[in-house]
Parts: sequence; structure tokens; C-alpha cells
Amino acid sequence: MYNKITVVGAGNVGATAAQRLAEKNLARTVVMIDVVEGVPQGKALDQWQSGPVEGYDTRVLGSNDYDAAQGSELFIVTAGIARKPGMSRDDLVKTNAGIVKSVAEQIKRVAPGAMVIVVSNPLDAMCYVARKHTGFPRERVLGMAGVLDTARYRMFLAEAMEVAVEDIQAMVLGGHGDTMVPLVSYTTVSGIPVTQLLAKDKLDAIVTRTRNGGAEIVAHLKTGSAYYAPSAAAVQMAEAIVLDKKRVLPCSTWLQGEYGLKDVYCGVPVKLGRNGLEQILDISLTDQEKKDLHASAEAVRGIQQLIDTF
Ligand SMILES: NC(=O)c1ccc[n+]([C@@H]2O[C@H](COP(=O)([O-])OP(=O)(O)OC[C@H]3O[C@@H](n4cnc5c(N)ncnc54)[C@H](O)[C@@H]3O)[C@@H](O)[C@H]2O)c1
Repeated sequence: MYNKITVVGAGNVGATAAQRLAEKNLARTVVMIDVVEGVPQGKALDQWQSGPVEGYDTRVLGSNDYDAAQGSELFIVTAGIARKPGMSRDDLVKTNAGIVKSVAEQIKRVAPGAMVIVVSNPLDAMCYVARKHTGFPRERVLGMAGVLDTARYRMFLAEAMEVAVEDIQAMVLGGHGDTMVPLVSYTTVSGIPVTQLLAKDKLDAIVTRTRNGGAEIVAHLKTGSAYYAPSAAAVQMAEAIVLDKKRVLPCSTWLQGEYGLKDVYCGVPVKLGRNGLEQILDISLTDQEKKDLHASAEAVRGIQQLIDTF
């Protein structure tokens, strides 16, 4: 168990993540920080009072002041504005880059040795902002997107084949957006290639639905975007780090030549443990997957370059 984990942003994703962290007993104290007066305090008090019922002792604290996050070992950054219907993730870039920059500067001030999991969108570009303004090594600044995209992909596959989702092994790489890359060539059902069990047209439809997974939920909700699965995915990454699980998960990572990509954040398979990013698994891809991954990374690079002009 960590001593302190801080969630920045006490909105839908942040507050749900804080609750999941407490319920999993991953830290003695979970701090929620938000700019809105009263919201993190009220939600934190409410969550803390669930402890006797849910069986956790974690102190959940809310604050508008980063001093409450002093010495946190891990941050989950969800601050920002969420996507509205018809708005692309990239429309969010300027507002959220400013927000994530200010958050990164505060993290550096109160917890210079911390690990950072970024959730704010546009995800990969926000990882770039967080790394740039904390100055932390790449091992300690990772983004959550692939775990969520993979969860959606696995669910759709399990439903289509009427099999247990736990038997589906899969991974979605690339940037978090319409250019994400579900790896069909590595998708198996208990080791059986999915292509032997599902017709190509059905598989193609699932890949498309996965790519639009976030937008599908936004279209239903009308105000706001997904948060149950996103918070679960961010907490799965946190758990892998806190418990030193050495999980192999697709995470947005600052690439330095891996997959032929350099100086760009992109989702690739990594090993997560107590040191954060412990290894990048540079696996072989089909020509099409390689092409798609590069296209996805170049889309992220474009946003990184745009951010540098702000
Ligand atoms: N990476 C992913 O897969 C993924 C999935 C879902 C959502 N997201 C993104 O996560 C972010 C949060 O989504 P949400 O649904 O929780 O939105 P939300 O609007 O419910 O919550 C965002 C919170 O951030 C707070 N905030 C704004 N500026 C801040 C600042 N400077 N410091 C601290 N807090 C600040 C807001 O007051 C609000 O409470 C969005 O950018 C969204 O697009 C990413």
C-alpha cells in the first residue's frame, strides 16, 4: 500500500478513480484536488464515509490546495474539460494543455519523485505536456488510453462470440483517438487466433466500434463522456505500480526509437511495476499494423508541435 495517492480533478473520472483506489486499499490516504471550491472536499468526505461499509480505512481528503498532495507517490491526472457531443478530442487541446501544464508544475513542486498517470484528453499530447513541465523521466509519466480501448475491444469480442471476457487476450496500441490500432494479429481466445472464430466482417465492425467507443458513449450521455471504464483502467495501471505487479499493458509512453518512433507519446505494450515503466515490449507487427501505428503516432506528433506554438 502507498502512503498517499493524489487524483487531480474531482470530476467524473477523477472522483470515480479516487473511490476505486480507496476500495482497493491502494493507499493510506487518497487526495482529490480540484479548482472548484467545495467539490473535492464534499466528494472526499462522502467517499471516506463509505469506508465502514465497503471495508477500507483509507482516508479520502479533498482540497483546492496542492499542499495537501505533498509527498504523494502517485498522481492520476484527470483535470480538464471533457469532450462535448460533436467535439473531437483535439478540439480540447489548447484548454487542457494549459490546465495540465499548471497541474504538472504543482506536481513537480510538491512531489518531485512521484509517478504520474495522465488521463486528460487529448491523452497522448497531454502526456507530452505533463512530461515537459514536470521534467520527470519517461519511466514516471505514462498515459492511460490503451487499457480502456482494449477493455472495450475485449468486451465487444466477448459479446460477439458469447465467450467469457477473461479468456480474450488483446491489445490496442497507438494514440487515443480515431487512429488507435487494435492488434487483430495478437487477439486470441484462450490462445486461439480470433480470426479462426469470428468472420472478417464481424471483426472489422468490432474494430470500428472500438475506435468510436468514446464517441458512442458521448452520444448517449449528451453532456460529459465515459468515466466508469476510464477510471477502472487508470486504477488498473496504478495497481500494477503500487503492487509491483509487472503487468503488461498498453500505455502511452515517450518513445525513443522503439517501433521506429522517436520523441512522441504513443500507446505501446509496456511492463508496469514499482518503477513505473520498467520495459517497452518492442513486438513485431504486420506491415499494416506498423503503418497504422506510425500514422497514429504522427497524428500525436502534430498536436505536440501545435502545443509547442502556444
Ligand atoms: N484517456 C482516456 O481514455 C479518457 C477517458 C475518459 C475521459 N478522459 C478525459 O479525462 C478528463 C476528465 O474527464 P471527466 O469526465 O472527469 O470530466 P469532468 O468535467 O467531470 O471533470 C474534470 C474536472 O477537472 C477539474 N479541473 C479543471 N481545471 C482544473 C485544474 N486546473 N486543476 C484541477 N482540476 C481542474 C474540473 O473542475 C472538473 O471537476 C477529460 O479531459 C476527458 O476528456 C480521458
